Amino acid sequence: MQGDIDRILIDRDSIAERVEQLGAALVADLAPAADAGNLVVMPVMTGSLFFAADLVRHLPLSFRILPVTVQSYPGRQVKSQGVQGADELPEGLDGRTVLLIDDIFDSGGTIDYLIQGLNNAGVARVVVCVLLRKEIARVIECPIEERYVGFDIPDAFVVGYGLDFDGLYRNLPDIATLREEIISGH
Ligand code: IMP
Ligand code: MG
Repeated sequence: MQGDIDRILIDRDSIAERVEQLGAALVADLAPAADAGNLVVMPVMTGSLFFAADLVRHLPLSFRILPVTVQSYPGRQVKSQGVQGADELPEGLDGRTVLLIDDIFDSGGTIDYLIQGLNNAGVARVVVCVLLRKEIARVIECPIEERYVGFDIPDAFVVGYGLDFDGLYRNLPDIATLREEIISGH
């Protein structure tokens, strides 16, 4: 697995430090909703598995965790194929504040799709927290007002800390690019 890596973009210590900072900012923002018993934390599976697990342990607030499953890069894709196979959203979101946690903001399709669903479910407020944001996401028009971003990265395909290629490499502790031969399969 290590031999497949081209370059480490963000190492595990930098990730841990940034996650702690994001946690502190989110606590200040979300404490009123949590105090009112209205906060729901919604990790987008599977990519945000480790990010969400680390982040929520920096949120000393009262909330339920309700994961949602969405896929837009099935198999060996390195370009978004559109949002697919989204689970039904959980019940009981009416009037809640929802913290949506995702691994990466790329075309924005996944987050857009979920925000629409959440608005239809009658949520009071959606706050988005993504660990990574690609260059392309900074130039496309994006309707998301309330968002927290861990790191801005170039438009490269990355793996590790939850992010996968064909289901693999999620367990790398750092965020890295893969060697070209691995992605092209030659
Ligand atoms: P978007 O819908 O295009 O914004 O893509 C978001 C989803 O695509 C993320 O939740 C990831 O699961 C996946 N994704 C986007 N870029 C990458 C990448 O560089 N590596 C691995 N997965 C990615
Ligand atoms: Mg994902």
